[in-house]
Amino acid sequence: VCGGIEGRMNSFRKRLIAGATCLPTCWIALVAILARPPVVLAMSCAGDCDGDGVVAIDELVTSVNIALGGAALSVCSGANGDDDGQVTVDELVVAVSNALNGCPIPATLTPTVTLPPTTTPTAEAVNGVPTEPAALLRWLQAGSYLDWAAASGRHPSLGPHTSTVRTFLNDTAIASLEAGNSSHPVGTALVKELYGSSPTVVGWAVMVKVQTDSDGGRGWYWYEGASLSGTGLRVCTGCHGSDYRGLTSRDFVLTPYPLQ
Ligand code: HEC
Repeated sequence: VCGGIEGRMNSFRKRLIAGATCLPTCWIALVAILARPPVVLAMSCAGDCDGDGVVAIDELVTSVNIALGGAALSVCSGANGDDDGQVTVDELVVAVSNALNGCPIPATLTPTVTLPPTTTPTAEAVNGVPTEPAALLRWLQAGSYLDWAAASGRHPSLGPHTSTVRTFLNDTAIASLEAGNSSHPVGTALVKELYGSSPTVVGWAVMVKVQTDSDGGRGWYWYEGASLSGTGLRVCTGCHGSDYRGLTSRDFVLTPYPLQ
């Protein structure tokens, strides 16, 4: 191990002799520096004038010349490792060590563990409501719509949605119905809890406006279980597209408003 270091020191000295243009005092200083035990200071790469992460021999010579007053600090600000405005012998020693052993890895380059972007595929959603059946079912099972405005309670359905139902409307739906819009904005969403004769929810029917133009129902996403999921489902738009059993269809919405 020592032989290796010795060899590198020798080749370094040879490179110095071959490549450097040094004032006589500079040589004395360099020899004095090389004779000192190495000091490792935690600082940016002393002696690295051009910031390329390597202290080349000409950079070392420049550092020594600055230390001796033969050159301005601006020639190589990297010579002044601790930024105190002058190049001291300690900094030269570190510069030599950096030339021999390479620059220390700055703390800022310590690899920080950057987590890759979440790999969980984010299902498509409109205004927070998933428009893909599996994700929507999880969203429904989590009760994500329960803080929406709702019909006062379960009521018998006039439609095919099992015998008792309760409809929830998001803020966008409420605002649009309140305004009497003939076409609801993108993000309007309505969830109907289906109870049948059970005391608990047995399923859900959902409609979400996914584009401005209702386009005969294709501007709505319809859901009533995985097998009934998609935009413009005719099995849904047939009833919802026009007034049904005394209920007015407002852009495919049949629930009476104000809510009952
Ligand atoms: C036979 C007619 C009919 C069909 C077919 C139908 N619905 Fe309905 N739906 C209604 C009626 C009527 C209402 C109003 C509330 C009630 O009485 O149940 C309603 C209400 C809803 C609501 C509550 C919001 C609103 O528009 O009032 C949703 C959500 C819903 N239906 C989704 C669907 C989906 C999804 C389909 C297709 C899978 C579908 N419906 C098929 C008649 C129907």
